[in-house]
Amino acid sequence: MPFDQRHLLGIETLRPDEITSVLDLAEDYVALNRQSDKHADALTGLTQINMFFENSTRTQASFELAGKRLGADVMNMSVAASSVKKGETLIDTAMTLNAMHPDLLVVRHPHSGAVDLLAQKVNCAVLNAGDGRHEHPTQALLDALTIRRAKGRLHRLNIAICGDIAHSRVARSNLLLLGKMENRLRLIGPPTLMPSGISDFGVEVYDNMRDGLADVDVVMMLRLQKERMDGGFIPSEREYFHRYGLDADKLSHAKPDAIVMHPGPMNRGVEIDGTLADDINRSVIQDQVEMGVAVRMAAMDLLARNLRAHRAGAA
Ligand code: NCD
Repeated sequence: MPFDQRHLLGIETLRPDEITSVLDLAEDYVALNRQSDKHADALTGLTQINMFFENSTRTQASFELAGKRLGADVMNMSVAASSVKKGETLIDTAMTLNAMHPDLLVVRHPHSGAVDLLAQKVNCAVLNAGDGRHEHPTQALLDALTIRRAKGRLHRLNIAICGDIAHSRVARSNLLLLGKMENRLRLIGPPTLMPSGISDFGVEVYDNMRDGLADVDVVMMLRLQKERMDGGFIPSEREYFHRYGLDADKLSHAKPDAIVMHPGPMNRGVEIDGTLADDINRSVIQDQVEMGVAVRMAAMDLLARNLRAHRAGAA
């Protein structure tokens, strides 16, 4: 199982065979998680600290469950974003935690690049649980596993990522991963929510759902990231839903067996129709949550193997 990373900071630095290693190992953990006895011992004796400087429901919960199922001692530090000053404070916090000898540090932070910076200061494996609008690698990996299971493959698929691309680390990590695996990618959304220069990245860009969704296998919706907007990006939520919100009518332009994804949390009636989101014949949103635990178990398992090998070599 090739996986040569010390940290999991982003998809950008992963090779396709490393991505496949995480997904293949995650398959074992999907099976384990469906049993009554969900314990394995990949992280026994290790300490995992989850440091979330931004709100999170499923990412934090799934990292915590993943660590506990693999036998780690898991500690959660929820740091309210407002009480944290930038730069020095983050490093101070990291150095304090480092002195407690954690082995795995899971970090979410509102500033792009903050997690990379932190990884340079500590001597444990760092996992990026989302940094600003930069990357969210475990989300892209769990999305990839969900697609691979639903479609039977992870290449040569037509995949549309729709909505607030500009503010989304989920979109960025998914573009990188799905591009590395040789899929055909489209972005759909209003021009105000498209990052500038995006068409240089080898993706097709559409500003209407009808054309953009024609013949796609996968429709990935994104949350409108209002907390990262300073106003003026969309006319109104009602108008936004009318033009860009996914409903059965817009979905009818995609392939008949196209799957619907959303990383959560959803704004029902804004970017996605609530009934469609709950339609288990089309929506794989709950599968994404299930895959999230398994993928995080696999990622931490692989990093822990490298950490142990590194320490054995250094001793
Ligand atoms: C995403 C995130 O935090 O980047 N959520 C998640 O991790 N499931 C997407 C979002 O917040 O919209």
